[in-house]
Amino acid sequence: MASKLIFNIRQLAGARGETHPLRGGELAQLPFIDYSWLHIEDDRIAAFGPMRALPPDLALLAGTPAGIDASGCFVLPAWCDSHTHLVFAGSRESEFVDKLKGLSYAEINAKGGGILHSARRLAQTSEDELFAGAWQRLQDLSRLGTGAIEIKSGYGLTVEGELKMLRVIKKLKQRSPLSIKATFLGAHAYPEDYRNDHQGYIDLLIREMLPAIAGEGLADYIDVFCEEGFFSPAETETIVRAGLRAGLRPKIHANQLHLSGGVQTGVRLGALSVDHLETMDEDAIATLASSPTIGTLLPTAAFFLRMPFQPARALIDAGCAIALASDFNPGSSPSGNMNLVVAMACTGMRMLPEEAINAATLNGAYAMSLGDSLGSITPGKIANLIITRPVPSLAYLPYAFGSNLIDQVMIKGEFI
Ligand code: NIG
Ligand code: FE
Repeated sequence: MASKLIFNIRQLAGARGETHPLRGGELAQLPFIDYSWLHIEDDRIAAFGPMRALPPDLALLAGTPAGIDASGCFVLPAWCDSHTHLVFAGSRESEFVDKLKGLSYAEINAKGGGILHSARRLAQTSEDELFAGAWQRLQDLSRLGTGAIEIKSGYGLTVEGELKMLRVIKKLKQRSPLSIKATFLGAHAYPEDYRNDHQGYIDLLIREMLPAIAGEGLADYIDVFCEEGFFSPAETETIVRAGLRAGLRPKIHANQLHLSGGVQTGVRLGALSVDHLETMDEDAIATLASSPTIGTLLPTAAFFLRMPFQPARALIDAGCAIALASDFNPGSSPSGNMNLVVAMACTGMRMLPEEAINAATLNGAYAMSLGDSLGSITPGKIANLIITRPVPSLAYLPYAFGSNLIDQVMIKGEFI
């Protein structure tokens, strides 16, 4: 059995045993042990404790290659990024410039830009090229501390295109040590050919895409962009119900640009998460708070689109379970850096560093149904860890935003 000992840890953060997503005030509790050790066996966390109680047999590891001296460093669970569109072709910086000149996200979409722009690029890109781009991004993100990630389709918008994307995600799952979940987002936008035939596209989605995807076991979840100008709550419900029949639980893009009804629809259909939530009212907040559905906030998307940030404080005060994710995609969040997500959650949404770290680790894991095996420092869980550089405190991480303060990342018990 391969054993590793991380010792002299200045502070081990996230050492805990909860078996549910953290809600409301629980989110501010980030249990820690000062001056501590952590023992890893194979790909799992085996044990931890204070240095003064380091068992003598483990202490022997300290002087060997299996011993990692973490003097001055903080150790925390690796990020669990529960909402990304990591597989895409090309980039959209020309639209970024258009937006700086005054065009809105909806206006860019209406003239064939946005999601449809990425869909055209994806159609011209081979599965191998798509894989190569996504693989590179995944490598980059893992070095930034991401150890688990959800990846959506949604730039195919044809049977072949959606299958191509989901097969790329399947290959990523097979080749990467990261824990990966796949989400079918065929209902991301109505493609050009179905601009005036919404029912036709919904039929295609339900009768052709879903059976093919279910047949190949390509998706874990189904997502719909429930938004004005995209999919209405009624259309969302039809698509989600078909997904549920195919065994796919919903994770919904809700309340990004408008009070779309997406939160209420998602909660009613038993969504694992409703994501975005830039635009919330009391009813949407109360509905979410009284449900088991996780609200996933995507601060870098709000930042990049220059929208008001998600109302994290109101959501926490109402007792919601909230997660933080990157929304990495070429249109609204061309960064998957979870360190930046955590920093922006603090500065933009007034989340406390402990709340942001919990939302980006344990609650993110729960938003991918991985809470039992990831997201905290718990014996038996997978050893996905971040070791920081020597920093003065945990709050220093979001405080010194934009600096890379990660020294080493461990995925499944191995340093990458
Ligand atoms: O989560 N809002 C919908 N989908 C993405 C953006 C996709 C794109 O612009 O390419 C999002 O922000
Ligand atoms: Fe998204």
